[in-house]
Amino acid sequence: MSDTKRVYIRTFGCQMNVYDTGKMRALLEQGGYEHTTDMQQADLVIANTCSIREKAEVKLHSFLGEARRLKRERRSQPLTLAVAGCVAQQEGQTLLDRYADLDLVFGPDAVSSVTKLVTQADAGGQVLDTAFLDSTDYVFTNELDPAATDSITAFVTIQKGCDNKCTFCIVPSTRGVEVSRPSTEIIDEIKRLVDKGIKEITLIGQNVNSYGLKVPGELNFSQLLYAVSDVDGVERIRYTTSHPRDMGDDVVQAYRDLPKLTSFLHLPVQSGSNAVLRRMKRFYTREVYLEVVSKLRDARPDIVLSSDFIVGFPGETDEDFEQTMSLLSEVRFQSSYSFKYSQRPGTPALRLVDRTPVDPAVAGARLTRLQHLQRQIGVEEHRRLEGQSFDVLVEGPSRHDKGVVCGRTSAYKMVNFPGNLDLVGKTVPVTITRGFANTLRGERLYRAQ
Ligand code: SAH
Ligand code: SF4
Ligand code: F3S
Repeated sequence: MSDTKRVYIRTFGCQMNVYDTGKMRALLEQGGYEHTTDMQQADLVIANTCSIREKAEVKLHSFLGEARRLKRERRSQPLTLAVAGCVAQQEGQTLLDRYADLDLVFGPDAVSSVTKLVTQADAGGQVLDTAFLDSTDYVFTNELDPAATDSITAFVTIQKGCDNKCTFCIVPSTRGVEVSRPSTEIIDEIKRLVDKGIKEITLIGQNVNSYGLKVPGELNFSQLLYAVSDVDGVERIRYTTSHPRDMGDDVVQAYRDLPKLTSFLHLPVQSGSNAVLRRMKRFYTREVYLEVVSKLRDARPDIVLSSDFIVGFPGETDEDFEQTMSLLSEVRFQSSYSFKYSQRPGTPALRLVDRTPVDPAVAGARLTRLQHLQRQIGVEEHRRLEGQSFDVLVEGPSRHDKGVVCGRTSAYKMVNFPGNLDLVGKTVPVTITRGFANTLRGERLYRAQ
């Protein structure tokens, strides 16, 4: 048996968890843990969990079944078993009580203490850390994720938590209040990533538009975009997630001023009905949302939008749902994620469920119709691009075909085209030959010199 210990981390959920996993890997590496992609080889297994919908939570329990079996079968080499992330925060002690062989449960705010917590768990007894840190105590980990530089694009966290209280959402209770990361740290991390060959930066947070507003003297979100754009070597800037209510004119202006800001925006609308939006406490109307879209399209005519929808929210009538369908037809999102409303523990919408539930079969039928229309629009929008040329930042080999590489346009469209791997990291013009539902096929365009 070698002296180096190995950690296996299974990540569920959103980009915040992907980022936290990277940070844990970096910290554990410093603490003597090598990363492994084979759970069988691991001395430490961490499930970094998500509880956004019930289905996400179920995934943890089936994963734990697998990990606990492995732990029981181990003879020579002990296995430390930990649950991190949003389910850990939500369930805490309940998880430790339910699974006696679980060694450690810790929430998102404890990620920076992961090495200490693992040491504590290895010393014996179950360990729990789900304390929330306030903005003065919260530490953003500045270590780079060792995996971040395997690619040409990287996530950079700019805030944690969320101060909104959308009535369906568990995030405010699993991630705590919003804390903005100092812009100096953000820019420093971006510079280090660029030095390692990263070309595209995605700024992440649950509501990036409110970045910096609570900190006197800090940049606001649009100012941060300009500052990131000033970093030499950054070729493309993306960000997620935006709240339509907070999409100010200064951010819209950035689409006029900053060519590095990509022509793609994920702008979750959730519903096209004002009555439903009110009950969700989203604090915008359908009309305000459409106005934001129109301003964005004025500023950046080729901007491509994607969205999130929830169907079957308590009280949603057929009429409300038709409003959502008509909004989708009007905006013509390139793509969207759509979900059936899922009841989350402790969220305000639970009070509405008892009074005005939506029949799950009705919600299911609505979801099918919405997804069908979305697919149709997605294909139509992609077909429209046939014959047009775009700059494609090449990310790597195509997953399916030899001699084919893939990359993205500024509008985040995945293009596959014949090419060699020496193109990876380069931006080349490509003409679209065929549009499919999710991807495009193309041919490299050789411009006359
Ligand atoms: N902060 C982001 C998104 C967070 S969660 C935002 O404000 O948009 C990602 C998506 O999951 C949400 O946009 C929403 O569409 C969906 N979602 C969140 N809670 C849900 C629930 N209880 N049931 C169904 N979908 C949900
Ligand atoms: Fe949840 Fe709303 Fe915050 Fe998004 S903005 S994380 S949906 S509470
Ligand atoms: Fe899931 Fe937590 Fe992200 S609930 S979506 S992992 S913030």
